[in-house]
Amino acid sequence: MFKLENIKKLNTALLGLGVSALVATSLNAGNGVSIDGAVKYPTENGKYSDYYVNDQKIKYNNGRPATKNEIAAWNIDVKPNGEGLPEYDMHQGKPVLDEDGKPKKAEGSVSMGEELYDTQCVMCHGEFGGGGKGYPMLAGGSVASLKIQRLNPADENPNPETPVRTIGSYWPYASTIFWYVYDSMPFPHPKSLTNSETYAITAYLLSVNNIKIDGETLDDEYVLDREKFLKIQMPNKDGFYPDVESPNPKEGLEKMRALLSDPTIYGKGTRCMSNCIEKQFGKGKTVDDVLLKIKIPLDDGIVQPVSTERTWKEPEVAGAVMPGQVEYEAKCSACHGNAAIGAPVVGDKEAWAEVTKKGLDAVYSNAINGVNAMPPKGGHMDSSDDEIKMIVDYMINASK
Ligand code: HEC
Ligand code: HEC
Repeated sequence: MFKLENIKKLNTALLGLGVSALVATSLNAGNGVSIDGAVKYPTENGKYSDYYVNDQKIKYNNGRPATKNEIAAWNIDVKPNGEGLPEYDMHQGKPVLDEDGKPKKAEGSVSMGEELYDTQCVMCHGEFGGGGKGYPMLAGGSVASLKIQRLNPADENPNPETPVRTIGSYWPYASTIFWYVYDSMPFPHPKSLTNSETYAITAYLLSVNNIKIDGETLDDEYVLDREKFLKIQMPNKDGFYPDVESPNPKEGLEKMRALLSDPTIYGKGTRCMSNCIEKQFGKGKTVDDVLLKIKIPLDDGIVQPVSTERTWKEPEVAGAVMPGQVEYEAKCSACHGNAAIGAPVVGDKEAWAEVTKKGLDAVYSNAINGVNAMPPKGGHMDSSDDEIKMIVDYMINASK
């Protein structure tokens, strides 16, 4: 999903620690505003810093402790043992009631899940979860394929099935699917699904992965609820711990030996115990020749200097809000505000000069119909074509 040229633009390796600080300083030289729009403060060496010296006394409002309900509304994770898996339908923290005002049971069928999937997920995750456009596949792969990655494909395994990790082949617990979808999908509208809709989508995702529940195939009419959910056994549930336990120490040892010499897991079963670097990399080679070294100075830019200006100034906001700006912030900035997934970053002159080269109509059409990892309308199918055009105009104008 990362585009090399965008990474290069970031001008510095994305190496864990202090990434945002590094990025901000390198992009920022000279103009006093960072990529996320925050203000930067001048320092002695003519550079800019996130940190300023303030000589005013600020009164902090420390707020109040969160209430039980507030905590409950955030505490929505679902554990493999079923803890947190809802029995009743809820929408954004509020119970969904039936005609008699009673709490509705949370449940959803495969066909309901398919309908939801085809309106809210397919533009990114592809037909039947097949992936594409750089978004994760939600179906496919196999547990067997995960185990063959240590074989040398050229000799022992000429046509290995590529190891494909999907929620179906790799994730050991279905609870993670439920929780992940409920918490963070669809990408543009996280937490918009009801519990029942989440059951339905989970059922659909299991069905396209050919996963059965208690021996039963998940056909269109299959309805998933909490009780059935607790019976789900994911194909890779044992994939994370080797089966080497035994009450009999001798048998345990044998199982361990078998595991370590299983070529599908640990290569060919031969391990180098001496002179390994020379054997693998050639005579005279030492650790220093083969170690990968990070070439950029990691302390450069991580410890930022403090501003030399002592007075807090209101950040300068350029003029009034432009048409399309509010909509852009709400619908597009998650991807276009930074280079992480390869979207042209708003404010990046070069990137937008490149985009607009092909003519405005083509750009509008790409924004409306999608292109590569850009989903149609940014995933906001409720937006009109005119609104999208207005936002695109804003994005272009803000990048001149
Ligand atoms: C606008 C594009 C978009 C839409 C629409 C969308 N997703 Fe996603 N989805 C993503 C991205 C991007 C990721 C990867 C996020 C990450 O790795 O941080 C993702 C990840 C996932 C994953 C985890 C996959 C894995 O193997 O890690 C699941 C499950 C998922 N989405 C389900 C859904 C469902 C269900 C819907 C519809 C209700 C949906 N998504 C709609 C973009 C989208
Ligand atoms: C889920 C991430 C995502 C969201 C949300 C998103 N975009 Fe994009 N957008 C991209 C990516 C990635 C590209 C680069 C596609 C390429 O050229 O490979 C892109 C490219 C574009 C382009 C340039 C197309 C071209 O012709 O090169 C326009 C215009 C655009 N997006 C408009 C929008 C608008 C308007 C919105 C909000 C309504 C939006 N995008 C929301 C990811 C996103």
